Amino acid sequence: MTVPSDDPADGWFSESVAVDYDTPGGANAVEAVTPVVEVLEELASGGPALEFAVGTGRIAAPLADRGVPVSGIEMSRAMVARLAGKPGGDAVEVTIGDMTSTRVSGEFALVYLVYNTISNVTTQDGQVEVFRNAAAHLRPGGLFLIEVGLPDLRRLPPGQDTVPFAIAPNGDRAGYVGFDQYNVATQEFTSNHVTVSPDGTGRFLRVPFRYAWPAEMDLMARIAGMRLKHRWADWDRSAFTDASTKHVSIWEKLPAE
Ligand SMILES: C[S@@+](CC[C@H](N)C(=O)[O-])C[C@H]1O[C@@H](n2cnc3c(N)ncnc32)[C@H](O)[C@@H]1O
Repeated sequence: MTVPSDDPADGWFSESVAVDYDTPGGANAVEAVTPVVEVLEELASGGPALEFAVGTGRIAAPLADRGVPVSGIEMSRAMVARLAGKPGGDAVEVTIGDMTSTRVSGEFALVYLVYNTISNVTTQDGQVEVFRNAAAHLRPGGLFLIEVGLPDLRRLPPGQDTVPFAIAPNGDRAGYVGFDQYNVATQEFTSNHVTVSPDGTGRFLRVPFRYAWPAEMDLMARIAGMRLKHRWADWDRSAFTDASTKHVSIWEKLPAE
């Protein structure tokens, strides 16, 4: 067996994670991907689109396959290496870099950042820079879309900081346990993934995140010269309510004053 070697420059999504990222099912299933791509295609309305943190092209490749010109910014070379050869993948032009600061040429109709990835930027300043960078790539009237889950704080009684989100036993010795650990004072949280293989060996992966409430994101958008246009509970454009567990938010770039 070849053990994948991880390049620290690839961050949390290095070779050993990228190798399994496109496993069929879940977020890669056609029924998960198609509603996302349909909304993005409509919002781009023919204009070019830019995906921040494009990853393996899970969304960008099928969007490009529909004829939308798509570019991407991505930190991990290991993730980007999976794009080539996918339908639409070769049409996606990727720049390796950090979405808080990397600029690509062109003016876009749509910049989008999906699958909770704004939370991978672990400081408020960094998240503001993501909004600023999105606005810098948009033409006036262009749209910035974020898809992100809401922190599960309602499941935290006083004195407790941990919320389990998955327990999947698999035989006597194998399985998976996932839990989030919150610091409600700093808005930082850690996603913990414990995987045990059938031979009894295991891996404990801890990934740091920062959550921001939708209202905080609206302020970040305002700082960047954008204003909220839509906030949905999901890709089906259902209403965002107090029971929502995630949001799909879209801000519009205002004309320069
Ligand atoms: C959960 S994956 C999402 C990938 C893709 N957007 C998708 O929907 O499948 C998160 C991706 O964000 C990338 N990433 C995290 N922080 C980044 C940053 N500051 N700049 C660029 N890419 C980043 C990671 O390398 C990884 O590929």
